[in-house]
Amino acid sequence: MCGIVGYVGPGNTVDVLLAGLRRLEYRGYDSAGVAVVSDDGSLGVRKRAGKLDNLIASLDDAPLAAGATGIGHTRWATHGGPTDTNAHPHLGDDGKLAVIHNGIIENFAQLKQQLTDEGFTFVSETDTEVAAVLLGREYRRTGDLFEAFVATVAQLEGAFTLLAVHQDQPGTVIGARRNSPLVIGRGTGENFLASDVAAFVEHTTHAYSIGQDQIAVITAESITVTDFTGNPVEPEPFEVEWDASAAEKGGWKSFMAKEIAEEPTAVANTLLGRISDGQVVLDGLDAIDDDVLAKISRIIVVACGTASYAGQTAAYAIQRWTNVPVSIELSHEFRYRDPVLDDSVLVIAISQSGETMDTLMAIRWAREQGARVLAICNTQGATIARESDGVVYTYAGPEVAVASTKAFVAQVAALYLFGLHLARVRGTLGADEIAGVTAELTGLEAAVQEAVEASASIPNLAHWMADTRSVLFLGRNVAYPIALEGALKLKELAYIHAEGFAAGELKHGPIALIEPGLPVFVVVPSPREAPLLHAKVISNIQEIRARGARVLVVAEKGDTAVLPFADEVISLPLVSPLMQPFVAVVPLQVFAMELAEAKGLDVDQPRNLAKSVTVE
Ligand code: F6R
Repeated sequence: MCGIVGYVGPGNTVDVLLAGLRRLEYRGYDSAGVAVVSDDGSLGVRKRAGKLDNLIASLDDAPLAAGATGIGHTRWATHGGPTDTNAHPHLGDDGKLAVIHNGIIENFAQLKQQLTDEGFTFVSETDTEVAAVLLGREYRRTGDLFEAFVATVAQLEGAFTLLAVHQDQPGTVIGARRNSPLVIGRGTGENFLASDVAAFVEHTTHAYSIGQDQIAVITAESITVTDFTGNPVEPEPFEVEWDASAAEKGGWKSFMAKEIAEEPTAVANTLLGRISDGQVVLDGLDAIDDDVLAKISRIIVVACGTASYAGQTAAYAIQRWTNVPVSIELSHEFRYRDPVLDDSVLVIAISQSGETMDTLMAIRWAREQGARVLAICNTQGATIARESDGVVYTYAGPEVAVASTKAFVAQVAALYLFGLHLARVRGTLGADEIAGVTAELTGLEAAVQEAVEASASIPNLAHWMADTRSVLFLGRNVAYPIALEGALKLKELAYIHAEGFAAGELKHGPIALIEPGLPVFVVVPSPREAPLLHAKVISNIQEIRARGARVLVVAEKGDTAVLPFADEVISLPLVSPLMQPFVAVVPLQVFAMELAEAKGLDVDQPRNLAKSVTVE
């Protein structure tokens, strides 16, 4: 939450910052602002509530004086509403320094009281302004930005990435990281600090990750990293593996449309190089070696939102293939209900961003209890990956639209690979059986592509439903989490009440919701491969149809048994039951996107949300 970028170099600083913010806008879009230390040594600040375009319009009307040093921020509001005043950057009391922040300073109320008692005044309701005023006080005391910064961060508690510039120290941006992401981009004669590499990847792919409780100082020519007490540390270099075009819309109507179209590639890239002679080859498991895997007694998946549904989906396969019990926990609930953990428990943390604070806190806690943690992560070098015992990266590429799509299918693919690996280690599947599944996985690229193409008819469906007030989603077995995911997509994108249910659960209560005309999506199991479940779902459909629901059936092509009971049929490619989630999720994603568009909504940046949820 909140996107942060800092720049020092010969480029047009405001343009570099705005381009970076454009790429970080998915992290929050309640307000945006920039601060530039001008070549004549003064500090110019502009900030506006609302999306980045408001800030750009204001800068077009009245540009800031040019300068080589600047910071920019796009906000997801926590302390104080999304107003111009609460927008970042915030100034120190003398107006000479500017600070931007991502996270929550937990002791801000005490600090604010203390500073107020000392006679300082505040204009905003934010915790960030407290850090800015504190930094100003420390700067006056020490006369040096670095020393003042060290003294300031030592007084802060909570989660924060802070960037600061001071007009008396042009050519320097200073940043600190505790629990919120911050990376360095190393250019030629220019350097960057940002919440995520997307902000600078058009300028450089050379990056460094900054560890927990570290400070980074960049000038155009130098990069220095220290711990919070000022002792030098070596930052960890890495290369960004995708280029700027991967994070561009490239002619698509939205990032979401582009990312749905990229789902076949996201699955294929996640499998790439990990299947050899029909067997799974995984690197990155590190401390989670075969000995550890042979001894685990159970698996607990921790994740939030769509990532948790990916875990819930894959749990069916992993449990079936390995006989290891798998349970799913929402990260934010997990540690507060005293789960019993020891070193025989493997916790799998799933996170596209790798920065979700709820999941990060869950894995820290799990490791403290002795459990091993495996991360399934889409962002190289992200905190969750770094703080886990092993990692299986998904290779979905940058996901910019706030609603997760391609990351979901990549997460399920990565989890399936891990499940097969575990089955081999524990001897629960033979090489032939594993080869059979990997052959199916290899066929997924084409199947998901077919599902994407088959979704072309969905816009019409979405259009006639634009006034619908509620939609239900039903699924059984592996399609149950798909129903939950379909409902989540619709809520977050189209702002429509939507709920997913296990189809068998309906008669235990939710069937009371059915009224004439209510749209209900039903994901139907394969009649070829799962005839028993298929028959049960057909009965469930009859129950809701008898009560007037409008039934939208998602079924494999050739399933004629559903036709008499369906108002609409969306056809899926032929795959085995465990592969059905990969193809069944696609039309539900497309439906949510199209319905949101039919309502005139912004599908890439739905209201109140942010892509990377770095607060608890
Ligand atoms: C929904 C969505 C969210 C995320 C969740 C976890 O479309 O994107 O539910 O899945 O916030 O995010 P990550 O995977 O980054 O931990």
